Amino acid sequence: MSATVDPGSLVYRRAVPADAAAFVQLMSDEAVFAGLLQLPYPSAEQWRSRLEQSAQDQDALPLVALHGDALVASAGIFPLGRVARRRHCAGLGVSVAAAWQGRGLGKAMLRRLLDWSDNWIGYLRLELTVYTDNAPAIALYRRFGFEIEGTHRGYALRKGALADVHAMARLHPSPPRA
Ligand SMILES: CC(C)(COP(=O)(O)OP(=O)(O)OC[C@H]1O[C@@H](n2cnc3c(N)ncnc32)[C@H](O)[C@@H]1OP(=O)(O)O)[C@@H](O)C(=O)NCCC(=O)NCCS
Repeated sequence: MSATVDPGSLVYRRAVPADAAAFVQLMSDEAVFAGLLQLPYPSAEQWRSRLEQSAQDQDALPLVALHGDALVASAGIFPLGRVARRRHCAGLGVSVAAAWQGRGLGKAMLRRLLDWSDNWIGYLRLELTVYTDNAPAIALYRRFGFEIEGTHRGYALRKGALADVHAMARLHPSPPRA
């Protein structure tokens, strides 16, 4: 495993539509997309329109980490549809480029996302799904207070097999009050 990243050596900012090509590069790597619900051969146009959409959403944060000009990690918090009674909920995801995995970047991204969510937006429940064999991701989420709530069997097609996922969620540890 490589040395831990000095989080100060990277630039963290909101993703913008011009990052579409960099997202295509990140998401073209099976070491990244296999852990997500993304497909091989991602489309720059689809990424651009997704990023254009989230640029309009005050209640979403698509965050990227840059090393020089290279996009080395992406993580996001996004609202889950527009059901009024679930306005307190959001989804969360994170991906780190293969060469940067295991160097503390996942933690650095989660720390920033959760600060934004807990202290500035106030989502009370964050939820995600994670493949049951994705030990690094499960350990990362547990470290930040996510708990396994259940398991969906045969949830998604991955490399020719239907893979199980855990549903994980984290409730706001100290909900805001006056
Ligand atoms: C999952 C992922 C985001 C983790 O990011 P990362 O930068 O590699 O993780 P970090 O180096 O910050 O480590 C965070 C924690 O994960 C755990 N972890 C990291 N690598 C691990 C490994 N190989 N095995 C088990 N746990 C591991 C550790 O608990 C670690 O915390 P600690 O070092 O303080 O104990 C990254 O591996 C990734 O992008 N994978 C591909 C995409 C993906 O699967 N995303 C998750 C979708 S739900």
